[in-house]
Amino acid sequence: MTATPTIVNPDGSHRVVVTKELPGNHWKEVLSAAGCRIEIVPGTEILGKDRLIELIGDRCDGAIGQLTESWDEEVLGALAAAGGRVYSNYAVGYNNVDVEAATRLGLPVGNTPGVLTETTAELAVALTFAASRRIVEADRHMRGGHFRGWLPALFMGQLFHRKTVGVVGAGRIGAAYARMMVEGHKMNLIYYDLRANEELESRLAGYAAFLESGGEQPVTCRRAGTVEELLGASDLVSLHTVLDDATRHLVNAERLALMKEDAILVNTSRGPVIDEKALVAHCRTHPNFRAGLDVYEEEPAMAPGLAELDNVVIIPHIASATVWTRQGMASLAAANVAAVLQGHPLWQERDVLPFLEGAPPEAAPSIVNPAALD
Ligand code: DGY
Repeated sequence: MTATPTIVNPDGSHRVVVTKELPGNHWKEVLSAAGCRIEIVPGTEILGKDRLIELIGDRCDGAIGQLTESWDEEVLGALAAAGGRVYSNYAVGYNNVDVEAATRLGLPVGNTPGVLTETTAELAVALTFAASRRIVEADRHMRGGHFRGWLPALFMGQLFHRKTVGVVGAGRIGAAYARMMVEGHKMNLIYYDLRANEELESRLAGYAAFLESGGEQPVTCRRAGTVEELLGASDLVSLHTVLDDATRHLVNAERLALMKEDAILVNTSRGPVIDEKALVAHCRTHPNFRAGLDVYEEEPAMAPGLAELDNVVIIPHIASATVWTRQGMASLAAANVAAVLQGHPLWQERDVLPFLEGAPPEAAPSIVNPAALD
């Protein structure tokens, strides 16, 4: 049975469909103040395309959807045909949205950057240490009543201090993770990105100079020419790239074979960036290799055998799950929709904090296809 949407601000003149209840209330205030009638789909069921089209119905001015839903040409076409003028993803990633089709249909597509950066990087750090220091295995050991006292070789893991961290994708989140690992653990950084991150490089050069001025060995930072070079040089690799045709199965069997035997691989980006079957095979034959995964190739399913591996830590796509971030994402998604429906322009600044409390600025915080606003 399909649950009936909850209605907020029933007299609003713009009909906005929201495919999941979102954390906090600020987002509802933003949409209500913009004259929107908000229809929120209750429950946790992942919505298929037919249900999305049914919810859009004959008239729908805007929608806020989830990364678990396919907002492809057909669904976006239904939104445009229903008079829709804007769609916002409740996520920073938007590989579930056919942006090209949206642009053709004249539909601006919003996302929610700027509030996930530190949160996602922190979770990547947590996964890094959970995997390297075997936290989950050790926790199971305790709970299972197997701890018989301190032993010289019980649950030995990897030390990162002064080793090399490889970051694939040095955008906002990748750069935040790099800072945390370099400045927190004095690791050397090698990163791979199509563009040089000069801000990150100059910050880490400053940190290296600071260490040197105190008589310590400086850290190093360099951009790899190839993913292969990064994989071979790193003791720890964290993936922070977008998912597109170029990054699907970026980490495959051949590239896993280039990594150090006892390397750690962390993924908080998108599951298909790793060939998950190949990872299972690699972890089986390389017991000292460890992985920390937040995302999966066929979410919510996992590749056969993954859950049985002791050298893998697996968590359910929660990298952005802090109260502040998830409420902030809701405010940004609502502000995207409210702004477009009110004819406001695109926000020109990087800082999105002004959108998180009170009346938002008269602008759309983040539209990934600004051409559709024209
Ligand atoms: C995003 O916003 O893309 C994240 O994956 C959500 O956690």
